[in-house]
Amino acid sequence: MANCLIAPSILSADFARLGEEVRAVAAAGADMIHFDVMDNHYVPNLTIGPLVCQALKPHVNVPIDVHLMVKPVDRIVPDFAKAGASIISFHPEASEHVERTIGLIHDCGCKAGLAFNPATPLHWLDHVLDELDLVLIMSVNPGFGGQSFIADALGKLKLARGRIDAVRARTGRDIRLEVDGGVKVDNIGAIGKAGADTFVAGSAIFGTPDYAATIAAMRAAAAAA
Ligand code: DX5
Ligand code: ZN
Repeated sequence: MANCLIAPSILSADFARLGEEVRAVAAAGADMIHFDVMDNHYVPNLTIGPLVCQALKPHVNVPIDVHLMVKPVDRIVPDFAKAGASIISFHPEASEHVERTIGLIHDCGCKAGLAFNPATPLHWLDHVLDELDLVLIMSVNPGFGGQSFIADALGKLKLARGRIDAVRARTGRDIRLEVDGGVKVDNIGAIGKAGADTFVAGSAIFGTPDYAATIAAMRAAAAAA
């Protein structure tokens, strides 16, 4: 597969040493840092916000990929843009006006992504796909790292890939297809084959002693797909 991106999720990093951890995964070959924001409202967990993003920014030379699992969405978007986010993704159920939120993210100078829970239908893409830079398919229910990959996501990735390829054929514009949840060395090939080109992995990377070896193994397995 051409141009596959690996985005380690710092949800599974050692939070007492976050600066060191993001430097280590970037040095190990990470293409982006995936930054999971949870609010104990939209999802049943509470993580990190713009202050942590801002604090980490000087430690990383790769884009910060912010995954908002918060409701409401709009109030916090400019804060993450100022804190150094490159991409901001959100869940359609968490925004009253999905198209407005996409516009807000762009107005703040960031790329915009729309995130789909396992039970969220792709029809949310019907009227906004042309405006998106990234589609994020969740292969677990959001809220926690270390869950098992839900196989139904493979079919959903294929459908999303078809829609994205149709946009590229019509406009020449490329939209990334990101997968998040339960991605490991041993399933990344099948996930890439289903159409994903951007792979979030938390426990599979931070749970291993050699980040570079794991990222290289993931890249090789994805490329072989
Ligand atoms: C889950 C988060 C994921 C999580 C993935 O709600 O959005 O980014 O960190 O963790 P793993 O790769 O361990 O499933
Ligand atoms: Zn995530």
